[in-house]
Amino acid sequence: MSYGDAPALWDVNFHIQEGELVSMVGPNGAGKTTLINTVMRLLPVRSGRLMWRGEDVTRLNANDMCKRDVSIVPEGRLLFGGMTVEENLDMGGYRASARPFKEQTLERVFTLFPILKERLWQQAGTLSGGQQQMVAFGRALMAQPKLLLIDEPSLGLAPSVVEQVFDAISEIHKSGVSILLIEQNAARALDVAQRAYVMEGGRIVSMGDPKELMSQPHIRQAYLGEAAHA
Ligand SMILES: Nc1ncnc2c1ncn2[C@@H]1O[C@H](COP(=O)(O)OP(=O)(O)O)[C@@H](O)[C@H]1O
Ligand SMILES: [Mg+2]
Repeated sequence: MSYGDAPALWDVNFHIQEGELVSMVGPNGAGKTTLINTVMRLLPVRSGRLMWRGEDVTRLNANDMCKRDVSIVPEGRLLFGGMTVEENLDMGGYRASARPFKEQTLERVFTLFPILKERLWQQAGTLSGGQQQMVAFGRALMAQPKLLLIDEPSLGLAPSVVEQVFDAISEIHKSGVSILLIEQNAARALDVAQRAYVMEGGRIVSMGDPKELMSQPHIRQAYLGEAAHA
């Protein structure tokens, strides 16, 4: 993947198993968003191959991926701010195979985020940041994904809302959805994950058991806010 002539990812080799919650952590500018947007087929692949459920999806677009049960909660949420919460949720559930289950899925979204039920007719742009993030999750869930891509869900949110969002991520995972979670808040991301990757400078530099990664001095210093010891 590259922006113009400048490659943004190198030798990125990763996989997610069915039902897995995989976290990808790394500093600002590491290429995490580029990677997740490439998986969603929002960005072109210059070389290499992207496989999903045995199919080569390298040349497909985001709409194709949506039809193949992949949804994204994008960085910055990207809601339709002038539209109501309900309309935003409808945008997520428009695909033909999800439409018949709209009421059911909506109930599931309300169970995760009860506040959205009260705000259905409010313009999304006038909601608090936390509520907007909930709408972004709801919109992604309305498409009934089997793989959910989540980019920096806690960015700019108050601690209590972060708690709620991570609880929701655990619930979604428990319901059988595979998840690729990107987070700068490495402690949280590693805590919730079954497996994790560390990205730096457009490359994957580590992969493994989150607890093992958390115990590495380099990771602790770089991502968990610990001072280096002599
Ligand atoms: N639209 C863009 N055009 C050009 N360069 C970009 C664009 N988006 C991101 N980049 C560059 O690609 C690299 C990775 O960015 P990004 O994937 O957003 O990182 P992260 O999500 O890990 O913070 C950075 O060097 C960034 O400056
Ligand atoms: Mg990013």
